[in-house]
Amino acid sequence: MHLTIVAGARPNFVKIAPIIKAIKSAQSSRPVDFSLVHTGQHYSHNMSASFFEDLNIPAPTINLGVGPGSQAEQTAKIMVEFEKYLLSHPSDCVLVVGDVNSTMACAIVAKKLGVKVVHVEGGLRSRDLTMPEEINRMVTDAITDYFFTTSIEAGEILKSEGVLDDNIFFVGNTMIDSLIGSLDKLKRPSFDLPEEYFLLTLHRPSNVDEEKSLHKLLSRLDGLMVNEKIVFPIHPRTESNLSDLSAFENIIFTPPLPYLEFLYLVKGAMGVITDSGGIQEETTYLKVPCMTLRNNTERPETISIGSNVLIAQDMSLLETSLEQIRNGKWKESDIPPKWDGKAGERIIALLAELL
Ligand code: UD1
Repeated sequence: MHLTIVAGARPNFVKIAPIIKAIKSAQSSRPVDFSLVHTGQHYSHNMSASFFEDLNIPAPTINLGVGPGSQAEQTAKIMVEFEKYLLSHPSDCVLVVGDVNSTMACAIVAKKLGVKVVHVEGGLRSRDLTMPEEINRMVTDAITDYFFTTSIEAGEILKSEGVLDDNIFFVGNTMIDSLIGSLDKLKRPSFDLPEEYFLLTLHRPSNVDEEKSLHKLLSRLDGLMVNEKIVFPIHPRTESNLSDLSAFENIIFTPPLPYLEFLYLVKGAMGVITDSGGIQEETTYLKVPCMTLRNNTERPETISIGSNVLIAQDMSLLETSLEQIRNGKWKESDIPPKWDGKAGERIIALLAELL
């Protein structure tokens, strides 16, 4: 069995690491091999190489080097380059993870070349078609052969869309595998870390692409701090829309952080304010309060079971939430089923039978 594993953007790297680790440990007993295609969607050291180092991911077989571009440009470049690669390096199956442009682009190429497509993290839906990721999820799932899911709900969604039960496998969450495997390696970042802080991440186009509203949001957050600071590792997309970082008294800006430093901050934060998908899951596992600045989530179990609350644009709800955290009154939460560090192993054991 030969798998071609695709990764392009920061969250992908976190999701593939346990799958590669599981392949390596299966190699002594099963004829399984892989190649790793990095599309180059993310390319800066802190957005890419540092994740390979922190998560012990082997160097990619090839880097397609596509870099930035509009949605169509980036998707098209990935498709053109990946098609060339796959034609000259035939494979039994292409495995894609998550919902970024690289995920959808490579799934389309593989399916059109008659190669089986496996989607790790299939079946998530925000029902918000203004998000490029939602389109990526729907298109990828429409042509996927085997679905590995992180929740029971995701499987139900796939079935409601006509996917056969036999092709859906609830395996758990590879992002949580990586988290569990890293807990004893977390690194304190080198900047002066305040005793009490909230951690902020923002990169969704709807929150960051318009400078005026981004500035307004950060000013509101800045003003809501009492004795705490906000630590904000700033995504390049967000930074490019902020001209004056000194305007916010209580916000400490840092460059995007390596994985082990970022998780150190999540674990030690009073709470996390975010518009990310994966961070809703990581905070749920760590039982750290999470306030999500989005109208919807494709990860509802982080709300029904986990430590996440949807804040959307409601600043008075955010204010109440911060107060609850300060008073130790955040909701009780739990860890969703099968988020136990074994998803990668389950995926490889199942693929060995399926292929
Ligand atoms: C992408 C994913 C998003 C994911 C996020 C994680 C899509 C549609 N979006 O969004 O789902 O949550 O990654 O970060 O696939 N840039 C750099 N260095 C890099 C990467 C990007 O400077 O290594 C800059 C470029 O100017 C680029 C911009 O950031 O134009 C945005 O990058 P892009 O990959 O287009 O989307 P993200 O916002 O990172």
